[in-house]
Amino acid sequence: MKAYVRIDTVDQRVELADVEVPSPDADEVALEVHAFGVGVHDRYFISPEVAVPYVIGLEAAGVVTAVGSAVHGVAVGDRVMATTMMNPKGGTWAESVVVNQRGVAPIPDEFDFTTAAAIPIAGDAAVECMHTLGMQPNQTLYVAGASGAIGTLVVQLAAQRGVRVVGAASPANHDYVRSLGAELAVDYRDPAWADAVRAWAPGGVDSALAIQPGTPASSRAVVRDGGHLVSVSGDPCPSERGIFVEQFAHRPDVGADMAELVEAIAHGRINLEIERVYAFDEALAALEKTETRHARGKVVVEVRRAGTSATKGHPAPSAGTERG
Ligand SMILES: NC(=O)c1ccc[n+]([C@@H]2O[C@H](COP(=O)([O-])OP(=O)(O)OC[C@H]3O[C@@H](n4cnc5c(N)ncnc54)[C@H](OP(=O)(O)O)[C@@H]3O)[C@@H](O)[C@H]2O)c1
Repeated sequence: MKAYVRIDTVDQRVELADVEVPSPDADEVALEVHAFGVGVHDRYFISPEVAVPYVIGLEAAGVVTAVGSAVHGVAVGDRVMATTMMNPKGGTWAESVVVNQRGVAPIPDEFDFTTAAAIPIAGDAAVECMHTLGMQPNQTLYVAGASGAIGTLVVQLAAQRGVRVVGAASPANHDYVRSLGAELAVDYRDPAWADAVRAWAPGGVDSALAIQPGTPASSRAVVRDGGHLVSVSGDPCPSERGIFVEQFAHRPDVGADMAELVEAIAHGRINLEIERVYAFDEALAALEKTETRHARGKVVVEVRRAGTSATKGHPAPSAGTERG
């Protein structure tokens, strides 16, 4: 099958290659991949037990083609979205993938494959961020990276819970960030942005979510004494003024919230922004787009077009939305 692979464990170059189709173990599910989500992590998040060539990618949507003997609740022909959990057998940037049954969830009828492929990683990160922040209505939150994959979801989830949000983004995205529910949008390149945040939240915001690398220290500067800073990028950031600084960590306790998010997207209560759907042979351009750190929402790659497999009767993949 065709797949995008790392051919070296050190050199991070990604190439299109022909590789063996993986087969599922007892607790695994095999999928025919219809679309996969793209993130800046795809080039460098590879299994610690990696053998090259290693198929990259963490999330996909597709149709189940085989299930292992110990798999329950998933059947051949099901439409599912999946995360690989860095399976040593390889990831989702391929025509087929195997995933542990714990990484599989049904696709609601409302979704096409490209929509479903955009949700698992950023959606999970967004609900995990909300749990970690643990905010109450009327508290104030600063989001560094409000127009990105995680930020667009967090702004909406927070605002819909009554949290007052200020989001950092480029001016071209300010109307958009406010449309998601932020009260205020600031330009992180403007030297006066922190003053604008402090004018909006005198004394500083209760919490800040530093999604983009390089933003924890500047985000901490707008947090009130004794407030809360969560670093999603993993950048270390020492505490000061009694601020509780926390590193983003994956949490096993967000399953119900993830299901709620999927339903909210399906029913239009949460907007899932997809900057663009790329064709399979354009996948490297899709990765490079995320590496600019200026994609709005998610970037998705479509592997199979509508009607090219056993999925008749389901909505066709959207043509995607490409912004000018
Ligand atoms: N994606 C995931 O699911 C996930 C999960 C766990 C952890 N992470 C970590 O989270 C980070 C990426 O998150 P993401 O995927 O949401 O990012 P992303 O989609 O790449 O974020 C892009 C957005 O960030 C904004 N941005 C760029 N530089 C900024 C800066 N200096 N200050 C504030 N905003 C800035 C851009 O805004 P403008 O275009 O408006 O300028 C753009 O809209 C990475 O460190 C990754 O390792 C990601």
